[in-house]
Amino acid sequence: MAKRVGILTAGGDSPGLNAAIRGFGKAAIGHHGMELIGFRDGIRGLVENRYLKLDNRALSGILTIGGTVLGTSRDKVHKMSVDGEVRDMRDIVLENCAKLGLDAVVMLGGGGTAKNALRLSQAGLNVVTLPKTIDNDIAGTDTSFGFATAMEIATEAIDRLHSTAHSHHRIILTEIMGHRAGWLTLGAGIAGGADVILLPEIPYSVESISATIKERLKRGSTFSVVAVAEGARDLGDRADYDAAELLVKSSKTAEAQGAARTHLANVVDSQREHTFKLARELEAATGLESRVTILGYVQRGGIPCAADRLLGSRLGTAAADAVARGEFGVMAAARGEGFELVPLAEVAGKLKLVPVEHGWVETARQLGTGLGD
Ligand code: F6P
Repeated sequence: MAKRVGILTAGGDSPGLNAAIRGFGKAAIGHHGMELIGFRDGIRGLVENRYLKLDNRALSGILTIGGTVLGTSRDKVHKMSVDGEVRDMRDIVLENCAKLGLDAVVMLGGGGTAKNALRLSQAGLNVVTLPKTIDNDIAGTDTSFGFATAMEIATEAIDRLHSTAHSHHRIILTEIMGHRAGWLTLGAGIAGGADVILLPEIPYSVESISATIKERLKRGSTFSVVAVAEGARDLGDRADYDAAELLVKSSKTAEAQGAARTHLANVVDSQREHTFKLARELEAATGLESRVTILGYVQRGGIPCAADRLLGSRLGTAAADAVARGEFGVMAAARGEGFELVPLAEVAGKLKLVPVEHGWVETARQLGTGLGD
């Protein structure tokens, strides 16, 4: 009997998701003779049993569309807000999938999705995941689809920001996404020729950045472009954040943990405008007018680049192969030119951060780029 499989996209939307849905679907239906349904809006659709049948017609024409044609959400399956209550919905998911006669569910997502997938896999569901995120922070895979496109967009933004920076003799700070990882900022910063690159993995000091900018001034460069990762922090803010996070981890009682979580949320809130704060500090330290551009969701939008379409297609078809062979509880990871099936336990709850000795960091240093340390 033909295998019946469900597919969903979860977490933030990302370029290349539709290429991966299409890649999986074409191989699953055309090559392996499976039947395919697509759940709407990620884990939420899986819980609420909202889906549509995916056939070749539904998969046609989606390769270049941005976002995800299935919709997405950021739910945690074991802690979902349902009718004003927080509930564990794992049993409901298993029931829904059994009623639909599904042999497996394929989940396209990032770190949060890997955790959901592992929880569902441990509960008995046959799951395969695919690595999607513009942040490139998923453990166990060389890269993820979405990253290459977002890096192109951020690089082009840095290119364009150079116009105003040099014309007005300004410092322009551009805040780039990436959550707690600096890959996107580092890649785009190098490719776009940013003068300073600030990463979450390397806490910065205003003194170090202004020294870089003043050095440039001495050489006649009367402007600077600073690429700031959204997760980058100065030494003081980083220490406050780390201490607050440690307090959450070390709290023994529910009450202490609640208080620690509130404190952590307040710290995060107080650091939200860090790039604007840095701009004011650099203006004061260097005498150069400073401006901020937050790239935000522009980085996730629009047509995926060729590299992401290729990666989504490659990993999509690899996942279809895994389902056909009955290999579950794994992520189809990018490994060199090929792929590898990595156990979800080696992916979930782990972040792939930029190692401070990474080759890209070394490249930036040798280019004379300031890293704020
Ligand atoms: O994980 C992708 C990402 O775009 C991060 O870079 C960013 O921190 C986050 O998602 C933003 O999330 P949301 O879509 O919930 O605002």
